[in-house]
Formats: sequence, C-alpha cells, structure tokens
Amino acid sequence: MRTLTVAVAKGRLGEKAAQLFGAIGCDVTTLMDALDGRSRSLVVAEPHRHLKFILAKSMDVPTFVEYGAADLGIVGKDVLMESERAVAELADLGYARCSFVLAVPEGAGIRSVEQLDYNCRVASKYPNVTRRFLARHGIQADVIPLHGSVELGPLVGLADAILDITETGRTLQENGLRAIATVGESSARLVANRISYKVEYERIGAIVEELMGHVVQGAAAE
Ligand code: PRP
Repeated sequence: MRTLTVAVAKGRLGEKAAQLFGAIGCDVTTLMDALDGRSRSLVVAEPHRHLKFILAKSMDVPTFVEYGAADLGIVGKDVLMESERAVAELADLGYARCSFVLAVPEGAGIRSVEQLDYNCRVASKYPNVTRRFLARHGIQADVIPLHGSVELGPLVGLADAILDITETGRTLQENGLRAIATVGESSARLVANRISYKVEYERIGAIVEELMGHVVQGAAAE
C-alpha cells in the first residue's frame, strides 16, 4: 500500500489536525513532538495507516498539495483563498473559525466599503484576497502586503484600512479599529491533490468520512 503524505501547518491548526488524526487511530505521538518543538523533524512517519506527515508553514501547505508533494493537507480557508492553488477542497473540519473583515479606524467616519477614498491604502496579510474584494467593489486601492500585526497599519499612518481575519474581535477593538465589511468566513479545511484524490479515491474517501465523524462529535461536545 502506498504511503499517503499529509501536510499539516505548524501551530494551533496543526495541533488540532494531529488530534483529529489521533482520533481515527493514527499514532500521532511523534507528530505531536514535532509540532510542539520537542523534535525538529519535518517528516514524520505514521505506520498504522500508512501515512506520513510533513510539517509546513501554513501558507505553503496548498503549494505542497498542488504539486503532489503531499496527497492531503489541512489548512485554513483563509490561506486557501489567498494562495490560489489548485487543490481539491474535501471537507470543512469546523475548527479555527474566523472571519475576513475590512476594518478602518473608529474615528475615520467610514461606514461602508464604497466610502473608501480613491487610491486609499489597504494593508493585509492577504493581498490577493484584498485585491479581489476591492476590485469587486470597484475600489482602486494601493494594497500593502504585511506579514503580521496588520492592525498597526492605520495606527502609524501606513494604511487607511486593513483586511484581516478576526476571531474574537479583540485585536480590532483594542487598536481602535472597526469592521465595515465581512469579506468571507474561514475554518480549517481538508484538501487533496487533485490527481491523488482520483487515484486513491476510496482510501481518501474513507479517511474523510472517519475524520468527519470526529468533527461532528467534537462540535457536539463543545
Ligand atoms: C490574527 C489576525 C489578527 C488577530 C485576530 O493574528 O491577523 O491580528 O489574530 O484575532 P482576534 O479577533 O481574536 O483578536 P495572529 O495572532 O495570527 O498574529 P499576527 O498578527 O502576527 O499574524
């Protein structure tokens, strides 16, 4: 039986993924060690289900999957939307829920996207999502890519608005920003390489079904 490679993101998304694979009978001890830094291995074998986990940066998971370096991957919908990689999205795993919002400073007097100034600057960790959203609204903007702490943008005069994910809304609130539009919703997704999904249809289908059984149970327990 061919070993299937599963790309998981380092961090919280990956830890939940490991728990899910553990729940369907995988030995995830070594994966957990790698995820929480006890080991530095980036490739972890899983003998029970003929799987192999690889640890990647979240934004790179769709790349590994599109090129077939990984058969499966677990990644946020936010990252999928930004990466624009051609992968098969198989299931919504229901965790790591957050929303994409466009936000402006409280005192800016802007209440809708259409009120943004012509040629305004919008900072984001998601420049592709931002450009697509603004284009849909006919807004000509200078999109400024950042790698984190995006909320800083309007605070220091770098940008007039931001497009970012928000979970509790606390970061926006504590930095004097207000969401004026919801751009989309995100949660963890199971994705597959398109060819792997065809070739290993039954095996991958069975894994999806088992994982989803635990997603439903998990959601009910929360
Ligand atoms: C994310 C996001 C917001 C924050 C939102 O940042 O970019 O900054 O979380 O969460 P909240 O609505 O619950 O406050 P992350 O923690 O990934 O850090 P980063 O800004 O360095 O990317």
